[in-house]
Parts: sequence; structure tokens; C-alpha cells
Amino acid sequence: MDRKGFIRAIAASGTGAIVGAKLLGKIDAPASTASSGKWATESWAQVRALFPLRPEVTYLNTGGLGPASQPVLDSVFEQGQTQARVGEHYHKLLGQSRKVAADFFGVNPSEIAFVRNASEGNSVISSGLSLKKGDEVVFESHAHPGGSFAWMNRQKLDGVKVKIFEPSSANSEENLERLFDQVTERTRVIQVSHITATTGLIFDIQAIAAEAKRRGIWFHVDGAQSAGMIPVNLKTLGCDSYSTSGHKWLNGPIETGLIYIDSGRNDEVACSHIGAYSNDAYELPSTLTYVDSAVRHEYGTRNAASAGGLQTALELQTEIGRQKIAEHGARLAQLAMEGVRGTKGLEILSPIDPKMRSSILTFRVADVECSAIYSALSKQHKFRTRVVTERDLNGVRSSWHVYQDEEDVHRFVKAVRSVVASL
Ligand SMILES: Cc1ncc(COP(=O)(O)O)c(C=O)c1O
Repeated sequence: MDRKGFIRAIAASGTGAIVGAKLLGKIDAPASTASSGKWATESWAQVRALFPLRPEVTYLNTGGLGPASQPVLDSVFEQGQTQARVGEHYHKLLGQSRKVAADFFGVNPSEIAFVRNASEGNSVISSGLSLKKGDEVVFESHAHPGGSFAWMNRQKLDGVKVKIFEPSSANSEENLERLFDQVTERTRVIQVSHITATTGLIFDIQAIAAEAKRRGIWFHVDGAQSAGMIPVNLKTLGCDSYSTSGHKWLNGPIETGLIYIDSGRNDEVACSHIGAYSNDAYELPSTLTYVDSAVRHEYGTRNAASAGGLQTALELQTEIGRQKIAEHGARLAQLAMEGVRGTKGLEILSPIDPKMRSSILTFRVADVECSAIYSALSKQHKFRTRVVTERDLNGVRSSWHVYQDEEDVHRFVKAVRSVVASL
């Protein structure tokens, strides 16, 4: 099917088609009208050119790992080289990067600590909160191991009780009900993924935060899939803590991440790891006095070049426009959804409701192993997707981000249809 045929096919398929047709018109819009930025980001093609991705493969696995752009790689390299020449830690640079990160997430720099990945951030919270045997923690059944294992470990070590709820991809209010159905007077913590890794479902964080606050329950958000995919203002969301990776939708250096802890509740998270820079004095203190900020969870020598690279990634997203990035990815995922829908046996697993869906599209095909579709898409059509084997979903996940455009969607839809027909 050529592009016109593709548009006609979408237009012929009902309500979603109207959305799809509108989307096509919008996708060509420039990413940014600003011309004063550091990088050329006026069109999506220019943004794409900033990433040294292999041209022969269409990379649809940003939910797994978001490749760094050349400006990020250059920043890490240049800083690393300076450090190698001068031989200094450059701790001050962490402060600068922290300030940029704090602005990005709408919080105070004292509420941000750099960690190695989202899993580590989740572990800072799970191991730091004071929980007794029988205290309960609730999270969704689609939680990534990087989010769930932290609590299962507390269950194993301390007898904390883990309770899970099954998310609904159809109805946001129902998710609130399903979550709070699991809550009892012993519930001390609620955690959800802001956006699930499995199907890209967006939880209503503000509503959960309000109810958790009313009940006096700590609310932690695993934001591995949301930071960089959609704009995130943590004060508006109202959670007590949030962790994320830098190496997914933010396209920062690998092994970067951060944790946010609301300053009013910082002292409730005990330091599970500690070292120089966690305490106020560098010399052997008579008493250990933590620095009065989340920074106490950073300890020992840190890689200022990585933090600087993450800072560059945040600045690049800001220059492109964070809302534009979110709309672009969601539009492409929506377009892909409308395109593959109707393929024989194919079922969309991602939410349809615009309030709940994101830049991730996950689908499955009845009686066909997801790994077979994944392999055929990879080997025959050069699309890098990801299988979703969690909860026996048997899905194929595609992540749509700044380095894709509607032509990629067009080829993807064709490839999915041809693969499904051949299996
Ligand atoms: C929701 C969620 N949480 C945690 C993780 C783990 O991230 P990391 O490998 O950066 O620790 C992932 C990774 O995909 C994820 O999707």
C-alpha cells in the first residue's frame, strides 16, 4: 500500500480514522519554531539527525533503552576528557545538573538525588521507609521488576505484605477503585508506574496522590516510562517520591537516573547507603548529620560527566518542546494503532482512551507467539520492537519518539500486516 492508500485505509476504518487523518496533517508540523536554541531542532528530521542511530534499523524500543543523541555523547566525552586531563571530581557540576533537573521536574534542587537508574531510585524508597512486619504495600500487577522487586525484597527480608491490583486499560476511574480496593488500615505505601512498561497505560497520578494523602499513605511513582515521554511537573502531580531513568525517554547517558523526595518528607526515608557528601561535615564528625536534602542519598565519587550528559539531554528536550515531544509520540502511536487495527486476529492491548494512552503501542495476535512477530519484524523488516511476556500478555510493544515520523509508521503498519498474514 502506498502512502495515499494507507491514508485512505485509515480514513475508511471509522471513528479512529478521523483522528488518524487529522494526525497525519499535524505530524509534518515543525518540532519547534525557536531558532535561537543550541541545536537545530526546527523539524523532526533535524531532531532525528542529532541521533547517531543506525539508518537501516527503525528503533522502536525507547521504552527499553533510549539511545543518546550526539550532543549528549559529546558532552559526556568532553567532560570526561577534561577530568582526565585535570584530575578533579568536578562535584560542583553535579550541583549545576541538579538545578537543571529540578527546573525540568518543577521541584527544588534539594529534592533531587542522582542515582544510576530507576531501579536504584525505587530501592532508595523501598529500603528507606520504616515498615514493620505486616505493613502493606500496594502496586499494579504490570509493575516492571525494577519497580516490584524492591518491595518483594522487603517482603522477603522484613515480612512486609505486597498486594497487587490488576490495571484496567479501559477506564481511569476504575483503576482508582481497583487500587483502593486493595488498601486497608495496614497500607503504608502505594506505588504505581506513571506509565506502564507493558502497554503504555497512563495512571491518573494526581487523583491517586490526593486520595493517598487523604489517607496518610506514602505515594511513590515509578516514572521510568514517563520522564521525557510526557511533561512531568512533580509538584502538580503531588506524589511523595518519584524515580526515573535517564536512559529511556530522556535519551540521557546509560546508567543515569534520579530520585525526587518531597522536602517535607525527606527525613522519613532513611539512608540505606551512605558516604562522603551524605553528611554535613567531611571530617570524622562526632555525630552523623545528614545534609538537609535528598542529596544525602548520593554518596562517594560520582560521575560528573554522566550528570552533565543528562543535563544536556534535558536541555535538548526543553529546546525541542516537551509538550511537542509528547504529542508527536502519542500521535505516531495512535496512527500506528489505527493502521494495524483490523488486521486479522490482532488485538490492541494499549488503552484507547486518549487520557490513558501514550507513545507506546502494544498489540497481540491471537494464537501467534509474540516472539515470532518480534523476530519477523526484526529480521525481515528491520524494526526493533520488544516482546511483552509479562502477565502472559504475549504482546509486541512499539515505542514512538522524537526520531520517528509518519513514514516510519507507514512502513511499520505495512510490515505488521505482512508479518501477521505470513504466520
Ligand atoms: C516502569 C519501569 N520501572 C523500572 C524500570 C527499570 O529501569 P532501569 O533499568 O533504568 O532501572 C523500567 C525499565 O523498563 C520500567 O519500565
